[in-house]
Amino acid sequence: YYLEQNKIIIEAKPVKRLCRTHSTILVNGQFPGPTLAVRDGDSLVITAINRARYNVTLHWHGVRQIRNPWADGPEYVTQCPIQPGRSYTYRFTIQNQEGTLWWHAHSRWLRATVYGALIIYPKLGCPYPFPMPKREIPIILGEWWDRNPMDVLRQAVFTGAAPNVSDAFTINGQPGDLYRCSRRETVRLPIKAGETVMLRIINAAMNDELFFAVANHKLTVVGADAMYTKPFTTSVIMITPGQTTNVLLTADQTPGRYYMAARAYHTAQNAAFDNTTTTAILEYEPAQSRKSSTPIFPQLPAYNDTNTATAFTAQIKSHSKVQVPKTIDENLFFTVGLGLINCSIPNSPRCQGPNGTRLAASINNVSFVLPTRNSLMQAYYQGQNGIFTTDFPPVPPVQFNYTGNVPRGLWQPIKATKLYKLKYGSNVQIVFQDTSIVTTEDHPMHLHGYQFYVVGSGFGNFNPITDTPNFNLVDPPSRNTIGTPPGGWVAIRFVADNPGIWFLHCHIDTHLVWGLDMALLVENGAGYLQAVQPPPLDLPQC
Ligand code: C2O
Repeated sequence: YYLEQNKIIIEAKPVKRLCRTHSTILVNGQFPGPTLAVRDGDSLVITAINRARYNVTLHWHGVRQIRNPWADGPEYVTQCPIQPGRSYTYRFTIQNQEGTLWWHAHSRWLRATVYGALIIYPKLGCPYPFPMPKREIPIILGEWWDRNPMDVLRQAVFTGAAPNVSDAFTINGQPGDLYRCSRRETVRLPIKAGETVMLRIINAAMNDELFFAVANHKLTVVGADAMYTKPFTTSVIMITPGQTTNVLLTADQTPGRYYMAARAYHTAQNAAFDNTTTTAILEYEPAQSRKSSTPIFPQLPAYNDTNTATAFTAQIKSHSKVQVPKTIDENLFFTVGLGLINCSIPNSPRCQGPNGTRLAASINNVSFVLPTRNSLMQAYYQGQNGIFTTDFPPVPPVQFNYTGNVPRGLWQPIKATKLYKLKYGSNVQIVFQDTSIVTTEDHPMHLHGYQFYVVGSGFGNFNPITDTPNFNLVDPPSRNTIGTPPGGWVAIRFVADNPGIWFLHCHIDTHLVWGLDMALLVENGAGYLQAVQPPPLDLPQC
């Protein structure tokens, strides 16, 4: 299961799920891909070998990649893709990060099957801030389509409509007992009565936030993304695509069999979603009546239970006091949400969105367009002009009631490749404001190259005068992905101390292809140690 020889081979293999076999892109023939287990301070050298027929890149989700955007991975942002038959060696060092992260393809929809866990242990001899159990288990939540996900995406991009929802959710690659033809492969986790284990839960799903629970067992949250949290106990967690959550689980119930289960937390109104439930089985050892007894099923919140989702996320705090920027140099207000683009030929097969439109999404009315001829980072490094501009509007062009009735004229974003430039070392605040254009929805926003403090969150329109005084500047969580509540806002702060071009996007991949993304350009500071390292010699060319 663990990575051998630091080689990641990306290749199509037949995979059978839900009674059907189709060829899909895997890593080293495994699904999910291999777990990378390293220590803080380790330098990694991982060669990605592309034997698939698609362009591909790999992203080490949450790794800060200080001064080293060349190893970050999003295609056409920090590198050109690795073409079929080619390879690229990712070289990077883990610097002051501990916890659970993960890696995934960052090329169109390849991440649906190309992903795995990235576990960062503390430096040798460094303690955990809680009693670390002997045994730990990665729990990777994913999504499965009966077809090659790249074909699902292609159809959606062609028609301008929403892509088909997935056919199953998965736990460590398996749908579980509630799906057809899946029982025999359901993941089983043996546990001894009285034993405590740590679950490293990762949401690798493409398009869905998830609730997760284990029947009759409480979960003690001790970490989220690459950060230790103040421990708290809960019976259910909500996790957005991109996030990780570490929980302790003690086998303190009557010996037997218990389901762990995950299903969608879904907030978009009138939108189809995958309403199925994935399960795995926690089995007390020694197994007495393992085959005969039906496992007990956990209670999961209703699909639209925003109260439970919000209350859970709000409980996540840093383990101890942290250094949050108190003064702000760059105060940014970003609307995040869906939109529609008018079609010139309304009845064409390419306009299957609502009322003959194409679906779009934007940040501050700019729907991001990726370049195709070079990566943004390489163009910037070589001083090439013309593939992007830095006039990204720091506030939306028109003020409106973001969560109320939005006039139709404001529904249509412009398409462009615009970056926002930040001075090295500046203190940055970004408020993400969901809009009710088309529908309100939770948008899990992910920033590459950084961990940020989540200082506040609320429903309705953000009000700087009344909301800012309530910000948590003492022990806010430090994360790489945070949900913008449906019809609400979330505020983050960070110091722009990592030069380079860093992708900022909604981790719901449907929204990503519709343009809910942009990039921050953090300029070099004065001196060698504040500047981006030179690119590696084998950096892929477009
Ligand atoms: Cu998990 Cu831009 O990625």
